Amino acid sequence: MIVNTELEQKGNLFPSEIIKYKKVVDTLYFTTKNNVILQVTVVRDSVIRFRYTTTGKFDNDFSYGITIHASRGYNFLEVTEEETHYVIKTSKLICKVEKLSLQIKIYDALDLKLINEDELGFHWEESYEFGGDIVKMSKVCQRAESYYGLGDKPVGVNMKGKRFENWVTDSYAFGKDTDPIYKAIPFYTAIQDNKSYGIFFDNTFKTHFDFGQERRNVTSFWAQGGEMNYYFIYGPKMEDVVANYTDLTGKPHALPPLWALGFHQCKWSYFPESEVKEITNTFRKLQIPCDAIYLDIDYMDGFRCFTWDKNHFPDPKRMVKELENDGFKTVVIIDPGIKIDLEYDVFKEALDKDYFCKRADGPYMKGKVWPGECYFPDYTKPEVREWWSELFKELIEDIGVKGVWNDMNEPAVMEVPNKTFPDDVRHDFDGNPCSHRKAHNVYGMQMARATYHGLKKFAYPKRPFVITRAAYSGTQRYTSTWMGDNVATWEHLWIANVQAQRMAMSGFSFAGSDIGGFAEQPQGELFARWIQLGVFHAFCRVHSSGDHGDQEPWVFGTEITDIVRKFIELRYQLLPYLYTAFWDYINDGIPILKSLVLFDQEDVHTHYRSDEFVYGDKILVCPVLEPNTKGRRMYIPRGNWYNFWTDEMVEGGKEMWVDADLDSMPIFIKEGAVIPKYPVQQYVGEKQFNEITLDVYYKVGKETSKLYDDAHDGYDYKKGRYSLRTFKFTGKENEIILQQHKEGKFDAQYSNFRIVFHNLPFKITSFEIDNVKVDLQESNGNKHQEILVEKSFTEIHLFGDE
Ligand code: NOJ
Repeated sequence: MIVNTELEQKGNLFPSEIIKYKKVVDTLYFTTKNNVILQVTVVRDSVIRFRYTTTGKFDNDFSYGITIHASRGYNFLEVTEEETHYVIKTSKLICKVEKLSLQIKIYDALDLKLINEDELGFHWEESYEFGGDIVKMSKVCQRAESYYGLGDKPVGVNMKGKRFENWVTDSYAFGKDTDPIYKAIPFYTAIQDNKSYGIFFDNTFKTHFDFGQERRNVTSFWAQGGEMNYYFIYGPKMEDVVANYTDLTGKPHALPPLWALGFHQCKWSYFPESEVKEITNTFRKLQIPCDAIYLDIDYMDGFRCFTWDKNHFPDPKRMVKELENDGFKTVVIIDPGIKIDLEYDVFKEALDKDYFCKRADGPYMKGKVWPGECYFPDYTKPEVREWWSELFKELIEDIGVKGVWNDMNEPAVMEVPNKTFPDDVRHDFDGNPCSHRKAHNVYGMQMARATYHGLKKFAYPKRPFVITRAAYSGTQRYTSTWMGDNVATWEHLWIANVQAQRMAMSGFSFAGSDIGGFAEQPQGELFARWIQLGVFHAFCRVHSSGDHGDQEPWVFGTEITDIVRKFIELRYQLLPYLYTAFWDYINDGIPILKSLVLFDQEDVHTHYRSDEFVYGDKILVCPVLEPNTKGRRMYIPRGNWYNFWTDEMVEGGKEMWVDADLDSMPIFIKEGAVIPKYPVQQYVGEKQFNEITLDVYYKVGKETSKLYDDAHDGYDYKKGRYSLRTFKFTGKENEIILQQHKEGKFDAQYSNFRIVFHNLPFKITSFEIDNVKVDLQESNGNKHQEILVEKSFTEIHLFGDE
C-alpha cells in the first residue's frame, strides 16, 4: 500500500486493500483486509453518502441532521469492477473506488471531468486521549478551488486558506475570526472550474475543517469521535448544491407567520410593564413599523423559566392582549437551565421524572447560569422533549405569547473555563446513549426542536415562531436564529453581513444579527447603516445588552429616526417579495440571500466577494460598512441593473462607485423584474388594502418573477389555499407584454395591481388587457407610465409611440 509514511509514523492508520465487495440495492460495501468497511449509498443521482468504519461494524445509523423527509431515489445505478478500482455510475456522477487504498475520485458523468479527489482519503488516528479514533478525511484542494458555508463563521465568505472548528460556544463579544462561535454546521460548498459540489460531514462530535491552510493543496476534515460519515452533493450549480443540502437536512416545516418577517424590537430587558408599553407606544406615535416586542430574562420570577415576576408584570395575559390589540406580538425568552429549587414545579417535576442530564458517575450535571445553580433537561431524550413542549401550554395558549426565544442553549455554563458541560455528561441521544462529546453540538438544536413542538401545538391553528442561538445542521427545520452577542462596532456590521450570507448558504436562511450590536452602544450613524443592512435579512431585530444606553430607533436624534423609519418602511413594502423568497426557500431550498458567487458562479470575480449579496433573486444589496462616507465601491454582477433610488441603469460585470449618503444605501433591481410592494403598514395586517404595487423594470428581452401569497398565518396554505403568481415579462423596443399565471386556491384581499413601469424608453400610447383594448383615460394612469388593473389579468400588452 502506498501511504505517506511520515503520517503513518504520526499515528495515522489507513485502509488496506479491498478484499470483499457487496451490493444491497442502493448501498455498496467495500471491506478491506484490515477490517475497514466503506459503505457507499446512492441517495440521489447527485448525492452520494460515504461512511467508514474501522471496527468491521457500523454504529446504529442515526442522525439529527438528516430529515426523514429528504428526497431519495435515483434513475440509474451501475457498478463495475475494473483492474484497479470499482466504478459506481449514476446519471450525474461517476465515482471510482481504488482497490488498494479505498481512495475516491468523483467525476461529472456528462463531461467526465474530475470534480473531487481524495488525497490520502479516509484515515484515522487511535487517540488514547479520547479513548477512541479521530476519524479523518483529506482531499485534494484543486487549483483555484474556493470554499463556502460552515454556518456562522465570522470571516470573509470564501474560506480558502483557513481552518475551522465546530463546537457550539457561548461567545460574548466574539470578533472577526473568533472560532468556534455559536453554531456547528459541518457543511461546505466548493467551486472549481465552474463546477460546484458540497460536503456535509454529518458527525456531531467536535469537527475540524482545513481548506488548504496546513497544506496548500489539501482540504481536510476530521472529528474527535464517531464515524467518518459524509454526503457528497453535486451541483454543478452552487444553488443546487445548497438546495440539495437543505433538502437533506430539511427545510422549515412551515412558513413563518408573516408578522415574524416584520421588524422586531428587543433589549435586555424591557421591564416593568409600563416600560414595555412606553416602547410600543413610541413606535406607534413615531409611526415606525414594528410587529414584535421581546421580553428578556427579567420578566421571570428569579429567572425561573415559565414563571412571571408579578411585581413587574402583574397580569401578563392582559398585557399581552393589550399589546396584541396594538399590533405587537410578544416573544419571551426561555433558557435551558432550570433553577434548583424544590418549591419550583418545573424543577420538581423534571427531578421526579429524572429528566435532567447526569454526570457519568451518577449525580446531576450542576452548572451556574442566570438563576444561580441549575440542572439541565436532556433534550436528546424524546420523553423530555415531549414534557418540555407541554410546558408551553400556559404561555402560549392561555397568556397568548406568540413566539419563544431559546438562548444559552450551547449549553452555556458560567464560571467554568470551557463555558459548557464537562465532556463526561451523559445523554440519551434518542436511544443511543452517549457522552457530551457527541451530544454537545445538538443540545441546543434539540431544545429548539422541543420548543417548536410546544408552540406548534399550543399556537394552533396559528404558525409557531421560535428563535434559537445554538444550532447544528438541520435546526432550520424548527426555528429561526440570530448570531449571538455581537458588538456595536463597524467591524461587527461587516461580520453581520458575512454571517447572514454564510448562514443562507448553509441552508439556514431565517437568520439575522442583533441590529446595532449587542454589547456597547452604537453611534447613530452605525445604527442607521446597520438597520439598512438588517432590513434585508430574513430575521430583522434590534437587540442590545441594555447596559450602555438605549437602542431604540428614536434615541439617536431625528435625522437617524427618519432614516430608520424609511428603511423599516421599505422592509414592510417589500414583505410580499420576502414572503415569496421564503416560499422558494421552504419549497425548493433556495437560499433567501445569495452571495454573489451563488448568484453568478461562472463569473470568477464573484468568488471572493463578501460585501454584496442578492436578496431574493432580483434585488442586489450592498451595505455601507464605513463611517463618514457618501457611498462606496462595489461589484455589480453581470447583467443590467437599475439603481433603486434613481432608476439609472448600470451595466454589471464591473466594480463601480455608488453614491449612498447616510439616508441611502446601494440597492439595485435586476432589469425585467416585477417587484411586488405592499402599502406601508405599522404592523402586518394593520390595513385592509385594495391594491398592491408591482414595480416593473423595463428590459429588452424576457424575465420571470413570482409573487406568493396566502392568509399570512395558519396552515390552509398547505391544503392549496395559497396563490403563486408567475409574471412573464417580455420587453421590446416599443412594446411590453406582461403575462400572468396563477396557481392555487387563495384569493388575496386586494383586487387590483398598480403596475408602475420604470425606465420605459417610450410613452405608453395604448394597452390591452386580455386582448381587450383599454382606454388610457380609464386606467387612472399617471403620465401613462402607471396603470391600474384587476389582479386577475392573464396578459397585458402595452404599446408605445414609435
Ligand atoms: C445572552 C443572549 O445572547 C442575549 O441576547 C440575551 O440578551 C442575554 N443572554 C440575556 O438573556
